[in-house]
Amino acid sequence: EAPAPHHDESHDPRRRDFINIAAVAFAGVGAGVAVLPLINQMNPSADVLAQATTEIDLSKILPGQAIKTSFRKQPLFVRNLTPAEIAAADAVPVSELRDPQSLADRTKPNKKNWLITMGVCTHLGCVPLGAGEGENKGPFGGYFCPCHGSAYDTAARIRKGPAPTNLVVPDYAFSSDTTVTVG
Ligand code: FES
Repeated sequence: EAPAPHHDESHDPRRRDFINIAAVAFAGVGAGVAVLPLINQMNPSADVLAQATTEIDLSKILPGQAIKTSFRKQPLFVRNLTPAEIAAADAVPVSELRDPQSLADRTKPNKKNWLITMGVCTHLGCVPLGAGEGENKGPFGGYFCPCHGSAYDTAARIRKGPAPTNLVVPDYAFSSDTTVTVG
C-alpha cells in the first residue's frame, strides 16, 4: 500500500498567515494584561481614591499637639485641643463668624478635643501652618496660611484673611477610643 501523500500544513500560505496573525494578536492581549495592573497601581482611578479610608492612631498625640498626615492624597490635620483651646473656640459667638459653626458642630459628641480637618486652605489650596512642631499658628491660635495670610482659630474656623470658609472636616468615625477612621 502506498503511504498517504505527505501534506505539510505550514507550506500552505493561507494557514501560515493565520498562525502569524493569531500569534501577534495573542502577544498584544498578553502585553495589555501585564501592563494594566502597573498603570492602575501608579495612578489609582478616581473611584478607588474616593473609597480609600485612613486609620489614625491618636494615642501618641498629646493635648496641645497636632499632626499632619494625609487622606486621599491631601494633607490632613489631627489636633488634640487643650481645655484652654476648647474654651477659646467656645467663647466666640457663632453668629459673628464668616462660616458660622460651633466647635461642637465640627467634632464628635464627648470628643470635642479631637479636631480633624483637611490641611488645605479654602482660599487657593495652600497648606496652612500650625500642625507641625513650632509652626506659626497665627493670631487666632489654630492654623495660619502663609500664602495670603488666612488665619484660622482653634476650631480651624476662618477668622481673618481671604479664605471664604472653615477648614473642611472630612467624614470620620471613632473605631475605638484611640483610633479614628477617616473616609
Ligand atoms: Fe491660603 Fe490664599 S491659599 S490664604
